[in-house]
Amino acid sequence: ATQNRPVVLLAEKLAPSAVELLGTDVEIRHVDGTDRPALLKEIADADALLVRSATQVDAEVLAASTRLKVVARAGVGLDNVDVPAATARGVLVVNAPTSNIVSAAEHAVALLLATARHIPAADAALRKGQWKRSAYGGVELNGKVAGIVGLGKIGQLVAQRLAAFGTRLVAYDPYIAPSRAAQLGIELLELDELLRTADMISIHLPKTPETQGLIGKDQLAITKPGVIVVNAARGGLVDEDALAEAVRSGHVGGAGVDVYISEPTTSSPLFELENVVATPHLGASTAEAQDRAGTDVARSVQLALAGEFVPDA
Ligand code: MLT
Repeated sequence: ATQNRPVVLLAEKLAPSAVELLGTDVEIRHVDGTDRPALLKEIADADALLVRSATQVDAEVLAASTRLKVVARAGVGLDNVDVPAATARGVLVVNAPTSNIVSAAEHAVALLLATARHIPAADAALRKGQWKRSAYGGVELNGKVAGIVGLGKIGQLVAQRLAAFGTRLVAYDPYIAPSRAAQLGIELLELDELLRTADMISIHLPKTPETQGLIGKDQLAITKPGVIVVNAARGGLVDEDALAEAVRSGHVGGAGVDVYISEPTTSSPLFELENVVATPHLGASTAEAQDRAGTDVARSVQLALAGEFVPDA
């Protein structure tokens, strides 16, 4: 009987609740999704593949599968899954589009506050025995203009939270209905206008060919001197080298960054700058978000393996 159970391949660490929910009707196997040879071998017998953001589920991986029915992304972004290639093979792709949006929004706000008040640098100095009050003067959020680039689910949550800090909200999003933005008390602007107006800018867009490098050297050049830039969305939406250069020159006052053009990474020009607060793609790394992402995709995988309709989470 064991041989007949569908094989669910876990390519990244998922919440225990997800594994529990999958139960004993399936055979759970583990592989390190970043180990390509191992992934290409293990995918051959898998009926379902579960990943987070580190595993590249591209055409080669899909072609190495023989009985794959579903690829499940325990998170929001599908930029690491070749959805058209999966669809062409009849493989269903599911994600957990609301599982970690609050965590992502909270992390963006945390990065903004940490950057505005130099919290990591001041903490590091104090631990080294330096009491440097004058070196770490910050800025208030209150009364400032907060620019949200991308007013989707996460961008809207960030906007709501920043409103509580007394900011004036502006946003760039070519797809949102103006009436929805008005309801949220947000003024819609063209990207250039937002860049010229905002005292702090937070990016909340998916990674697509259109959004890659959206904020580059030329865009940073028209921002307000002292602006704080936050990217907890995807690496490369803000050009890393251009951002580092703008912080180094003093034009950009500080940056909070959670995502990088290539991940994992321990080398970025941003890591050398004191006015940059950097975290290793932790936006969704909370107990609550991982629990939700895991159980959402586990449920979708069960339905898909049973040949049933999989509703949007
Ligand atoms: C997402 O797209 O959901 C995030 O990048 C979180 C993750 O990598 O799990």
